[in-house]
Amino acid sequence: MNEVTKRGSGHYNKGQIRSAYARVQEQYNDFALRETSKPWWDAFLAELQNGDLILDLGCGSGIPACYLSSKGMRVIGTDISPEMISLAKKQVPGVPFICADMEMPWPENTFDGICAFFSLLHLPKKKTVRLLYKIYKWMKPGGVFVITVVEGTKEGLCENFMGEGVAIYLSYYTKEELISSLSTIGFVVTAARDLHIRTENFEETEIFLLTRKPTD
Ligand SMILES: C[S@@+](CC[C@H](N)C(=O)[O-])C[C@H]1O[C@@H](n2cnc3c(N)ncnc32)[C@H](O)[C@@H]1O
Repeated sequence: MNEVTKRGSGHYNKGQIRSAYARVQEQYNDFALRETSKPWWDAFLAELQNGDLILDLGCGSGIPACYLSSKGMRVIGTDISPEMISLAKKQVPGVPFICADMEMPWPENTFDGICAFFSLLHLPKKKTVRLLYKIYKWMKPGGVFVITVVEGTKEGLCENFMGEGVAIYLSYYTKEELISSLSTIGFVVTAARDLHIRTENFEETEIFLLTRKPTD
């Protein structure tokens, strides 16, 4: 597990997130290419229609966006890391990737689907709740929001991310707390699953939540 060694939201630092991904860009891309998250991408796709407009928050090196666009989705990706965005542009030509904070504003009722695959776990929990309210507004009524995070209870600084000696902010969640936050905002949770992952460098339980914005 990518262990949190210094607890508390006081350790959150966006510059450090950019530096961390500048260091682990290749390692993370190799991990993403293993497609261990493919069941989550497919579950999201099963709720969408051909040509739907999707916002991929914290799109990383573009592997999920590549899969979603190959299945007929119109995807826009945003990521705070210039290195990850540059890899995404190289690997997935034709998809617009924007180097920006995932809190960048969008017009209300714009997207058929929004995904946040392992990206909101780099935000302090208080910020995540505020962002979830915005995500809700950015989606069209009936829109689908999918989020994956890692199971746990701590938030704060992890000083050995991916076993690479890199420091980065991490927030772990229980399924119950995330379902509670999403439901309070108005999202209807339609599926909740988990998956145990083990690599050479870390082991974790991933949580997947599929949700819908009601139509009325
Ligand atoms: C664990 S990676 C996941 C990448 C991709 N979603 C995937 O599943 O392959 C997390 C990504 O979130 C991005 N990220 C972290 N904080 C962010 C923020 N505030 N705004 C935008 N992107 C952010 C990181 O730069 C990184 O590329």
